[in-house]
Amino acid sequence: MRLIAPLRATLALGARPRHNPPFDRGESMQKAKINTRVFSGVQPTGNLHLGNYLGAITRFVALQDAHDCLYCVVDLHAITVFQDPEELAKNTREVTAAFIAAGIDPTRHIVFNQSQVSGHAELAWIFNCVARLGWLNRMTQFKEKAGKDRENASAGLYVYPNLMAADILLYHATHVPVGEDQKQHLELARDIAQKFNNDFAKTIAREGYPGGFFPLPEPLITGPATRVMSLRDGTKKMSKSDESDMTRINLTDDADQIAKKIRKAKTDPEPLPSEVKGLESRPEADNLVGIYAGLAETSKEQVLREFGSAPFSKFKEALAELATTRLTPIGAEMRRLMADPVEIDRILNEGARRAHAIADPILAKTKDIVGFIRS
Ligand code: TYM
Repeated sequence: MRLIAPLRATLALGARPRHNPPFDRGESMQKAKINTRVFSGVQPTGNLHLGNYLGAITRFVALQDAHDCLYCVVDLHAITVFQDPEELAKNTREVTAAFIAAGIDPTRHIVFNQSQVSGHAELAWIFNCVARLGWLNRMTQFKEKAGKDRENASAGLYVYPNLMAADILLYHATHVPVGEDQKQHLELARDIAQKFNNDFAKTIAREGYPGGFFPLPEPLITGPATRVMSLRDGTKKMSKSDESDMTRINLTDDADQIAKKIRKAKTDPEPLPSEVKGLESRPEADNLVGIYAGLAETSKEQVLREFGSAPFSKFKEALAELATTRLTPIGAEMRRLMADPVEIDRILNEGARRAHAIADPILAKTKDIVGFIRS
């Protein structure tokens, strides 16, 4: 497999985290591992799309060769906006199927749904008491999602980033692959870890962690497609919740749908530039070139070397071909996996059991540090 430079850098990541590893990593896997642990999550809110795939899931897959990884279907996050219960269960299985169809190996790594490990909610409560209102008030995603009717948003949506910090820190994860839209949440997770380490410095030291209890997790925002934009408006993020299905390519779209959406994607009248600089202030062209680079596992520079000065008609044809070749086998495999929900549930149960084994001692120690009595 040909790897683009940032991806190679990601795979090579191996620096020891600055903190002391607090204790045994539970069922650490056999390979001689450096002290890194990868965690990431995807919400089961339907319409899993190309942005999720290129910005997150392909990165998850790449990291599994060199790291211990936990990939979580974050159903607790999903209900911050009302979800129909049957749809939620179906979407949870669909994200699980997408992980596996894209190449995540649930036997070597941990794939599970968040609500099966109650430590996420317990640690999130502690973090609700660590994070400051001022920090949450700055979260742009809350503002976007709550919209004008903020009074009517759920309290869960407001404290969503605290739960996200809990997801990561419950496992002492050190690296978090995400798309660019999650950067601010990751910064908040670091602030929470730091404040917890400061607030409880005395008991943390007494428990034997002079370097701090929670690591400060590093975001991994890598590759040419960290922010895939709408196919109809290059200034808007590709999103699950956009009303128009033509704005996104869903992982379950068939070849005809994919080709049609790419053919109809908004462009401008100029041919493609030969250099990346020429994409500035051409958001639609930039987006399509980024998508091509992401799917081909190459760089935008390389794409423009091949297609510079080509008209969009020619480029779109090549992009449609590439997208269908890459995505339709994933869609087909997702459908095959989803036809056996019992097997998917078994994988999630097994993942949750293994996630518990890592989370439980970390949560127990957190409770000791905070001063909770436990038997
Ligand atoms: P979610 O479910 O919205 O998206 C899942 C992943 O896909 C990325 N993504 C994109 N990347 C590029 N272009 C896009 N248009 C695009 N849209 C989405 C997201 O950045 C994300 O990586 N809060 C998270 C889920 C979460 C989480 C966590 C992530 C909960 N706990 C802990 C990491 C660690 C979310 O809503 O992702």
